[in-house]
Amino acid sequence: MTAVLTKRKPATKRSAGKQKTATKRGTKKQAAGSKPNEKTKLYASLVVQLMSLLKGEHDFIANAANFSALLFNSLPNVNWAGFYFLHGDELVLGPFQGNPACVRIPMGKGVCGVAAQQLETIIVPNVHEFPGHIACDVASNAEIVVPLFDGERLLGVLDLDSPIIGRFDDRDAEGLNELVTVFVAHEEGLGT
Ligand code: SME
Repeated sequence: MTAVLTKRKPATKRSAGKQKTATKRGTKKQAAGSKPNEKTKLYASLVVQLMSLLKGEHDFIANAANFSALLFNSLPNVNWAGFYFLHGDELVLGPFQGNPACVRIPMGKGVCGVAAQQLETIIVPNVHEFPGHIACDVASNAEIVVPLFDGERLLGVLDLDSPIIGRFDDRDAEGLNELVTVFVAHEEGLGT
């Protein structure tokens, strides 16, 4: 299978909720282990759960940690879920769930660095076919990376890995973009 990149518009506070899918509803290829409507319902439920987790708490690291734990424990067939935050011109590992991972990723390197550089969500059906993929867990076969924005400013990326080839699709991209938008909107005064 040839590596395919599916790119989405940046998840800004203003635009993420308005993103359109490239494919008509009901005609998308189904990702492993989840019917389309089930996946949509799951992400709707995760938005509610994330808002509940964030309520009354504004510690960015604590909230990012709980967000990654929510994703890791709620999404099927995910072996790594977490953040890389932009520090200068590189991404640095943030809160995550899964095996220990590489700490620093230069812009433009790996799936995370490419997503950060291009300011777009990237879905990789098969990481072994992605040039420059950075392997942190031998179990990982598919990946999705979603940039985080504070307005127009790139904060970092949310990264999810799966052992299932083709695990992530447009509905994951939409659902995760909605979740990161809720997360960032809650974190006022992010600083730096
Ligand atoms: N695979 C990523 C590196 C991070 S790990 O998956 C946690 C990449 O290629 O950027």
